[in-house]
Amino acid sequence: MTVRTLLNGVEVSDYPDLPEEARRGKVLRVTEVGEEVLHAPCRTITEFGTTELRTLIDDMFATMAIAEGVGLAANQVGVDLRLFVYDLTEDGVRHVGHVLNPACTIDREEGNVEGEEGCLSVPGPGAGLFRANRASVTGVDVEGNPVEFSGEGYLARMLQHETDHLDGQLYIDLISKRERKRVISEMLDFRPEVLARRAELSEALEKEPATYPDTPPLEK
Ligand code: NI
Repeated sequence: MTVRTLLNGVEVSDYPDLPEEARRGKVLRVTEVGEEVLHAPCRTITEFGTTELRTLIDDMFATMAIAEGVGLAANQVGVDLRLFVYDLTEDGVRHVGHVLNPACTIDREEGNVEGEEGCLSVPGPGAGLFRANRASVTGVDVEGNPVEFSGEGYLARMLQHETDHLDGQLYIDLISKRERKRVISEMLDFRPEVLARRAELSEALEKEPATYPDTPPLEK
């Protein structure tokens, strides 16, 4: 049971299971390893409060919900802007929100922890990876208001994973060559099942599922 909900680090009451953004948003195709937009740094956002940004955030929430993700970066829906959304529950606390132009700082004194990590852009498998146990993020919300919070464990891992995305880095760039090979090979096996589930969950929310190519970008 969720005990508390923190919206960009601030406690809120009565937060819906399906965020309003996700309710409004369209399901977009999640970009996959091998697509250029995932492997280059994203651009800093300079204009806030626009309809385009609001729509993008809504669509990212909807896409994350049907893909059962805990975080999603804008380049994972093909947009090269510095922005991520997240919705993650750990130890009875739900952390949800969006951060524009995030900067992540890791706490080196708290050390690293190994944890299983996966990515919606590498559909299916996961791999063990060391990350800093504690991290903070600063940035702004869609209106340009400052956002700042920190966390540990899974939340800290998500913050590092999503800000890496915006710098053009995937978690599989941080694991051994051998592990990367294993992950990619499992991805090719699991991908059809994962995409079928996304379509099913899109329909369950009465949304048009995204269309994916039969062949993943990596194999082209
Ligand atoms: Ni990812």
